[in-house]
Amino acid sequence: MVIEAGTRPAPSAAQLQCETDTGIATIPLVQEVSFGSWQRGIPAEYQGLGAEELTARIRAARAALGSRVVILGHHYQREDIIEFADERGDSFMLAQYAAERPESEYIVFCGVHFMAEAADILCQPHQQVILPNLEAGCSMADMASEPDVRSAWRELEAFFGTAEDIIPVTYMNSAASLKAFCGEHGGVVCTSSNAGKVLEWAFERGKRVFFFPDQHLGRNTGHAMGIPLEEMVLWNWRQPAGRLGGADPAALERSRIILWQGHCSVHQRFSLTQIEEARAQYPGVKIVVHPECRYDVVQAADANGSTAFIAKYVANAPAGSVIGVGTEINLVSRLAKEHPDKTVFCLDPVVCPCSTMYRVHPAYLAWVMESLVRGEVVNRIQIPEETKRYARIALERMLALK
Ligand code: 13P
Ligand code: SF4
Repeated sequence: MVIEAGTRPAPSAAQLQCETDTGIATIPLVQEVSFGSWQRGIPAEYQGLGAEELTARIRAARAALGSRVVILGHHYQREDIIEFADERGDSFMLAQYAAERPESEYIVFCGVHFMAEAADILCQPHQQVILPNLEAGCSMADMASEPDVRSAWRELEAFFGTAEDIIPVTYMNSAASLKAFCGEHGGVVCTSSNAGKVLEWAFERGKRVFFFPDQHLGRNTGHAMGIPLEEMVLWNWRQPAGRLGGADPAALERSRIILWQGHCSVHQRFSLTQIEEARAQYPGVKIVVHPECRYDVVQAADANGSTAFIAKYVANAPAGSVIGVGTEINLVSRLAKEHPDKTVFCLDPVVCPCSTMYRVHPAYLAWVMESLVRGEVVNRIQIPEETKRYARIALERMLALK
């Protein structure tokens, strides 16, 4: 259902729906319109299974495996996946879980590629991490490739005469090779739940931060720490090498944060206009958004934080509250269902789910779980040892920050 701007009805169950709602219900894998771009290697026997059979088979595999397996689910996972999650959380909590819980032999990570990679880097050698659909990636993470980051680093080193006082900080939403790059160059990883603390850590060690891949999280965090916008410069990775990422040399000279020009296509959709309309229509409405949203959106919101923060914000709001949320629709819809005493709605009435998170269809979960029951590990995520060594350094620096 599409609700036109300005004609938004009072928040209701209808408002929680979007054009893609029918796509959120479980339908057999072959009927998914975008199945063609998902992992095709899944055996044919799983491709036509309906919701009921998939649920029963996943439950049976779950019971057969017992504590040998733990299923982790990110907050953006679909309902038909999150119902099987033993633990759900934001990307920080799930990484922490993988680092601290050696009991299960298998970690089935219902989330996206970079999250499963982080789990493999942090878990114990006897544990194996499995991503149900290998095509569940993250378009933001894909905006920063290792060769592009290394090339930018070389340019920065040449421009400043040294890179010693530049601290590379990568958002969790990045490839393992970039986490390793940070570990190797005195840098660190951050998530949306600890970016402020991580940047403080970085500024205790260097004069500048090179932040990738999400410009919005970097800018919003820098601003919250009191760094003026004029001291943050954008690095456009699409520029040919040698052009300083399109940055003005004087701006680069005075910069404290160099922001990679990456973004999340789900969060970049939220706008100031949506917040203004929500405030005009629902006096007293509270607005909470994810820090991957644009600067003006975060400024206009009442609060911003990670997916776990958003969940807590809604849970802690008094009964009767009306809350407009700027994040992925699966989480918003779930929060609305879990808190029937509050009105929780998505700021963008036509918002789409994160299309890559959505690729973890129950058919893939059934396939990987039943394979484990047979003693076969499919879709294992395994980071090469050398990359793991340095990436772990950067992740552990983050985990050590209290
Ligand atoms: P969180 O760390 O807040 O869960 O965010 C992960 C993410 O991908 C948001 O788009
Ligand atoms: Fe990546 Fe955005 Fe999806 Fe998060 S919501 S996984 S940043 S594409």
